[in-house]
Amino acid sequence: MQKRQHSSARIRLEISLKSIQQNFLRIQRTVQPAKVMAVLKADAYGLGAVPIAEALADAGASRFGVAGLREAITLKKRFSQPIHVLSGLLEGEVAECVRRKIICPVSDYRIAQWLSREAVRQRTKALVHIKVDTGMGRLGIPHFEARETIQRILKLPSLETEGIFSHFANANNPRHAKTREQIGIFRGLLRELESDGIRFPLAHLANSDGINNFPEARFDMVRTGINLYGVFDLLGFRAYKLSPSLSLNSVLLSRRRLPAGFTIGYGCTHTLFRDTWVGTVPAGYADGVPLAASNSASVLIRGKECPIIGRVSMDYLAVDLTPCAKATVGDEVVLVGKSGKRQLTIEDWARVKQTHPYDIICSLGPRVERVYLPSASTR
Ligand SMILES: Cc1ncc(COP(=O)(O)O)c(C=O)c1O
Repeated sequence: MQKRQHSSARIRLEISLKSIQQNFLRIQRTVQPAKVMAVLKADAYGLGAVPIAEALADAGASRFGVAGLREAITLKKRFSQPIHVLSGLLEGEVAECVRRKIICPVSDYRIAQWLSREAVRQRTKALVHIKVDTGMGRLGIPHFEARETIQRILKLPSLETEGIFSHFANANNPRHAKTREQIGIFRGLLRELESDGIRFPLAHLANSDGINNFPEARFDMVRTGINLYGVFDLLGFRAYKLSPSLSLNSVLLSRRRLPAGFTIGYGCTHTLFRDTWVGTVPAGYADGVPLAASNSASVLIRGKECPIIGRVSMDYLAVDLTPCAKATVGDEVVLVGKSGKRQLTIEDWARVKQTHPYDIICSLGPRVERVYLPSASTR
C-alpha cells in the first residue's frame, strides 16, 4: 500500500487477531499435552485484553492469566474460562476474588489464611494455585521452606488448591545455568510433595522463553504472553514459527527540499550534507517510538528503507526521503510491519533501544489507535 487508508489517528497499531489465534494454536500444538494459559496482564501488554481474549477464546483458549484483581474482573465478566491472578494478592482484594471465583496466587501462608477465612465466611471454596519462589527473588514461598509451608496451607479449610507454580528469572538465555537450577528445584519440590502424598493437578513454570529454550520445563501447563504476538526475545531459540501480529504505521505529513547545512530537530544532532528531501512523520516518543531511534533506525515508505534523521521528538520524527524519491504527502509510513519486500519488527526496535520487546510493546502510547483486524473462525 502506498497511500495510507483514511484514519483520524496519526499513528495506528494494527493487531491481527487471526495471527494471534494461529500463534496460540501453534504454541498449543508444540507443548501438548501441556495446557496453555494465555497471559493477558497489563491489558494484554497494552494491546487490549478483551478483544484478544475473545479471539483466543474462539481459538479454544481454556485459561487466562492477569496481574491483578481489576484485570481479572474485566475478563471474568465476559469469559467463562478460569482467570488466574498471577502477581500476588492484597488483603483488600481477597473477598472479591473469592466471590468471583478468580484463581488466586498463594505466595505465603498469610495469604492462604486470608483466603481460607474468607471462603469459610462466604460458605464457598477459594480457588488457589500455590506460588513458589525457585529463584526469581520477587514473590512466592521461598523454595527452601515450601514443603513445610504447603503442608500447613493444605490443612486450612475451604481452599481448593488446583495448582502450584513458579516463575523463571533468566529463561531468555538458554546457556545460563540459573534456569536449569530453577527447574531442578521445582521438580525436586514436586517429588518431595509427592512423597508426602501431595499432588496438584497443574504444575506450571514456563513463560514464552521457558517454552522456547527449555522444553523440559513445560510440566502440566505453560503460561505464554509475548509469543502470542509472534514476538520473541532477542536471545535464545524459537520452538516454532509464529506470525508477527502487530504492525505500526503512520503517514507522511510533509515533504520538503532542504539545503545542505540545514540541521534537523532538537539538539541539531543531524546536519544535511547535501540538498535533501526530508519527510516529517507525526509519530514520536509519546507514541512509543524510542528516543534511541534518533539517527539510528529507519521506517519503510513504498517498500524503501528511509533513515530516521535527527532526534525523535514527542510528536514527530524526520526521515531522509532520498531512498524513496517518489514519496508523497499522505503516503503510509511503516514503523513496524511489512512494506513491499521489507519488514521491520518489534525485535528491531528492541535492538535499537537495547531493551527487550516487552518494553517496546508496553511503551506504545494512548494516542496510538488500536485497530483489530478480524479473527478467523478456527474451530
Ligand atoms: C508469572 C508470569 N507468567 C507468565 C508470564 C508470561 O511471560 P511471557 O510474555 O514472557 O510469555 C508472565 C509475564 O511476565 C508472568 O509474570
